[in-house]
Amino acid sequence: MNLMNILAIETSCDETAIALVEASGGLRAPKFRIVSSVVSSQVKIHAPFGGVVPNLAKREHIKNLPIVLKRVFQNSPSTPSLFRVRASGSRTGPRGKFDLLAVTVGPGLEPALWTGIEFAKKVKRELDVPAVGVNHLEGHLYSFLLSKKAAGTTHKARSAKRRLDGFEFRISNFEVPAIALLVSGGHTILVLMESLAKWYMLGETRDDAAGEAFDKVARMLHLSYPGGAELEKLARKGRADTISFPRPMIHAKDYDFSFSGLKTSVLYYMKELSPSVFNVKHSTLKNDIAASFQAAVIDVLVTKTVRAAREYGAKSIMLSGGVAANRALRRALQAASRKLRANFFVPPFKFNTDNAAMIGVAGYMQYLKNKTRAIRAQGN
Ligand code: KG4
Ligand code: ZN
Repeated sequence: MNLMNILAIETSCDETAIALVEASGGLRAPKFRIVSSVVSSQVKIHAPFGGVVPNLAKREHIKNLPIVLKRVFQNSPSTPSLFRVRASGSRTGPRGKFDLLAVTVGPGLEPALWTGIEFAKKVKRELDVPAVGVNHLEGHLYSFLLSKKAAGTTHKARSAKRRLDGFEFRISNFEVPAIALLVSGGHTILVLMESLAKWYMLGETRDDAAGEAFDKVARMLHLSYPGGAELEKLARKGRADTISFPRPMIHAKDYDFSFSGLKTSVLYYMKELSPSVFNVKHSTLKNDIAASFQAAVIDVLVTKTVRAAREYGAKSIMLSGGVAANRALRRALQAASRKLRANFFVPPFKFNTDNAAMIGVAGYMQYLKNKTRAIRAQGN
């Protein structure tokens, strides 16, 4: 299968991301080299508002896209000469040769999506290459193809810090049927994969996404937005068995989730407490609440993933999306997979939260599946 050079663009939320991805191997044995992947986060800009403000995101994307594109090329000492285009896309510079342009078309914030799409259209006109519109969730789903190992250990913090640019990702022991758990700030989805090209959604959240619940509880604990990672830090210092928070829908026969009741339970629990408890910056109780809440979320996610894996005889289990950066969740799902004798895949931390490398990967899969999707923003 011929090598394809893919330029991928992601602007569905508050990260402006562009990546250069080399892909080959076809649908049977895809492999990828991330030549360069740059993510510019707007987190600090949206933090005072406690959430992403769509028009602010749009303004920042417009400003950041050319800067990020430039950094993508600068960041790539290994960039072959054919990639050396002028970041401005000017015709006077040497023309780059790409085989494919992949851009996120949704779901996401519509004004944010459009900035990426308009930018991609400009690049497409300059470089005269085919383009595919990529579903952001397929990006997270296929990000497991960027896993460095399976079945053994997840990546140690040390290796996560190591630069992954230039590394070749080729997973060898992926077998179907497979169950994928996709947990992000906007979605919580269980997927059944019958082949690399064929997948079905088994269930999803009926209200808050797992990441959203993390962010809302983090806010109650006075952590800054988005608080998932900060909450995990507190949880590491707390005791998970201190408070018995509910595990919504854990015994339900379907594969749907619900996290809004759990979030409300945390709120009620905290309302009962004296405010002085939270005046102490690093109170033990705060740590215990974080640990107990996190344990409840993980319990539900792992239990339902395991049930799906048993029902469908899964030989592989994948974890992806921003919440996959949670070490306790990675450990729990990995241990559960081992018990089921299923191979476990999780991408390096760098590719859990939004990035364009995963859009390049999903773009390649989409291109091979020959599903052309119109390059039109598909909002939430
Ligand atoms: O996939 P992502 O970057 O954006 C969406 O597509 O939504 O996910 C962001 C979400 C946020 O809710 C963030 O709080 C959560 O992922 N997150 C975490 C951790 N790191 C990021 N949640 C729990 N533990 C973490 N370590
Ligand atoms: Zn995402």
